[in-house]
Amino acid sequence: MFKRGKEEDKHLSYRVPFIDPREHYRRIKGEIDFAITDTLAKGDLVLRQQLRDFEKNLAEFVGVKYAVGVNSCYHALHFSLLAAGIGPGDEVVTVGHTFVATVSAIVHTGAKPVLVDVRDDYNMAPDKFDAAVTPNTKAVIPVHLNGRVCDMDGIMAVAKKHGIAVIEDAAQALGATFRGKRAGSFGLAGCFSFYPFKSLGGLGDGGAVTTDDPEVARFATLVRFNGEDRLSGEFHYHGYTALLDNVQAAVLDVKLRHLPSWIAHRRKIASLYREGLEATESLRLPHFSGDQHFDSYQNYVIRTEHRDELRQYLRDQGVETLVHWAKPMWGHKDLALENPGLPETENICREVISLPMSAETTLESVDITVSCIRDFFTSRPMPLRTTAAR
Ligand SMILES: Cc1ncc(COP(=O)(O)O)c(C=O)c1O
Repeated sequence: MFKRGKEEDKHLSYRVPFIDPREHYRRIKGEIDFAITDTLAKGDLVLRQQLRDFEKNLAEFVGVKYAVGVNSCYHALHFSLLAAGIGPGDEVVTVGHTFVATVSAIVHTGAKPVLVDVRDDYNMAPDKFDAAVTPNTKAVIPVHLNGRVCDMDGIMAVAKKHGIAVIEDAAQALGATFRGKRAGSFGLAGCFSFYPFKSLGGLGDGGAVTTDDPEVARFATLVRFNGEDRLSGEFHYHGYTALLDNVQAAVLDVKLRHLPSWIAHRRKIASLYREGLEATESLRLPHFSGDQHFDSYQNYVIRTEHRDELRQYLRDQGVETLVHWAKPMWGHKDLALENPGLPETENICREVISLPMSAETTLESVDITVSCIRDFFTSRPMPLRTTAAR
């Protein structure tokens, strides 16, 4: 068994860490240090050229006209909903299987979140979205989870039929595509997160709105900075203080240049997990049908009914894993969300486990993780209870 120090869990140094932020920094230290010191030396702290450059490069990368840097994906979602005119009395459809921020952004506009179930690729089922539409539905937030874009043909068709605004939660999907189009370029707005452990991670919280709509871009640009038009000095909205900091933008701009090769690495790691694990019964792997998708593998999520035992076993072997999320959102009573009765979302919460995955994950780490998982299942003969295709 892998030996741990006295301080378990929090201070555990894993043989295979889930991610390795120190190694991430070490590899591009020169470029990052230069971006930071150059920005500081110029005194460019707020709304300066580095932010404009990053926004331009991000928009180009996503394939839209505008990108507006904000301080989180939560704010990107909230501002996009406000830009779409969402408010009290409206309903916004999204999935039950997402991070709580997606739903909080809806709640904070005063609208009602309507949660629907996901397909086996963890993304919104277009028919479930269609069935949830009422005369009050004004927007939908498809969430491109784990680096896989939703079936945007299906979702855009339903939205068009009902005249509903589409706001993409692309927090986990920068660089992923569907039919060659990048996440964040399908709807009225796309919302991204640069939380440090995202594929494009900053030095702290960060996010962006992407859009082709000049009104949405202008709204987000003003509302992120207290509603002020900086050129005229006029305040147009009761806004927020939610800028993407200039130093952050400079660092993100450096990292954006590396993103394609980091995604290529993630895809390589995913294919190695597949090779190593596809013969293991009782496991469902995240390789789905549909060659119109290019997945960026923000997370490599496997499913097993023996999730908790497997996780403990991996922890004992020094392999760090995460679970997103162990309990459906409505299980958190203080959020006061009604239980929408979503069986697939509930099953997912019981069964998912995310394996180590990042641009720094080594082939050796994959080997260790794979052999530990195989050992776990071979040493414990268990009835095969999961049936869906891998
Ligand atoms: C699917 C999803 N939506 C929204 C968010 C919120 O992003 P942020 O932390 O940048 O507000 C996250 C962050 O983990 C996420 O995974």
